Amino acid sequence: MISRKAPLREVYVWQLPVRIFHWVNAFVITVLCITGYIIGDPPAIMHSTAPEANYWFGWVRLAHFIAAFIFVVNFAVRIYWFFAGNSFAKWYNYIPLKKKQWRGIFETIKVDVLLLSPKPVYDIGHNSLAAFTYFGLFIIMAIQTFTGFAMFCVSTNNIFEPFFTWLLFEMGGFFPVRNIHHILMWAFILFAIAHIYLVFYHDYIERNGIASSIIGGWKFINATIVEEAEKEELEQEKIKLDEKRLETIEKKIKV
Ligand code: HEM
Ligand code: HEM
Repeated sequence: MISRKAPLREVYVWQLPVRIFHWVNAFVITVLCITGYIIGDPPAIMHSTAPEANYWFGWVRLAHFIAAFIFVVNFAVRIYWFFAGNSFAKWYNYIPLKKKQWRGIFETIKVDVLLLSPKPVYDIGHNSLAAFTYFGLFIIMAIQTFTGFAMFCVSTNNIFEPFFTWLLFEMGGFFPVRNIHHILMWAFILFAIAHIYLVFYHDYIERNGIASSIIGGWKFINATIVEEAEKEELEQEKIKLDEKRLETIEKKIKV
């Protein structure tokens, strides 16, 4: 039997809303890319001279719009969870505002992209590079929502129209908006290929169960790393408590 003696601890990283968001998002993006591709380039072989025989295209558009509405609602729930979720789900993980995050990004690039080091960078939640790419993806998701709604509202004459028509005109009309919407589909496809490869690569080099963590929520982390993170968390809480105490003392003095 081959085994290792590294002391590991189970850590619950991805809460249920994050996992549900992930799989709903992955599914609807797949549907949106397939139906979007067909909308952008309908196969000539499926066209008929009898108009009623062309209605399959209407079903493709309907599938795109249903998936689009699920995509937007799911995204809205995740935006709420950026503020309500646990420390691994919070917004500040995704925007590299700290030196530590930038160091993590460069160190991970050395391992994942430049292959300069075989030694993985261990993190409990997302690694800094992954989190930064998710930030990019969230921005692209927002742009896709706005460009999509701009086209949808104008072409379907619905109650949201006044909120989005200006955007279509502001961006130069249907053609450029449709081009942006189309090009960004390829960003999703490239992201998905790199993302799935990297998840399994990290699972292999870190042996931390990262691939299954997005199903069950748990990762297996080196006990020393978890202890260090717990210490840091305790210190942060202590600092916050001290600041609150100081504030109340200052208020009392003023009174
Ligand atoms: C991951 C997200 C999405 C992807 C990958 C995607 C992809 C695409 C693509 C490739 C096209 C064809 C563009 C062309 O003609 O070249 C398209 C069309 C369109 N999409 Fe999306 N889309 C997404 C989200 C959305 C959202 C959120 C909406 C909002 C309602 C939306 C509404 C539309 C509309 C209205 C069209 C034009 C349909 C037509 O005129 O027949 N899409 N989409
Ligand atoms: C076999 C398919 C997939 C697997 C096994 C997988 C696995 C994972 C894992 C383990 C994480 C969290 C760990 C991390 O990288 O930091 C994650 C996060 C994420 N994945 Fe995937 N993924 C898959 C497909 C996709 C697809 C198709 C998309 C969208 C195009 C996607 C978008 C995301 C996003 C946006 C996050 C960040 C979630 C958040 O923080 O809310 N994934 N994925």
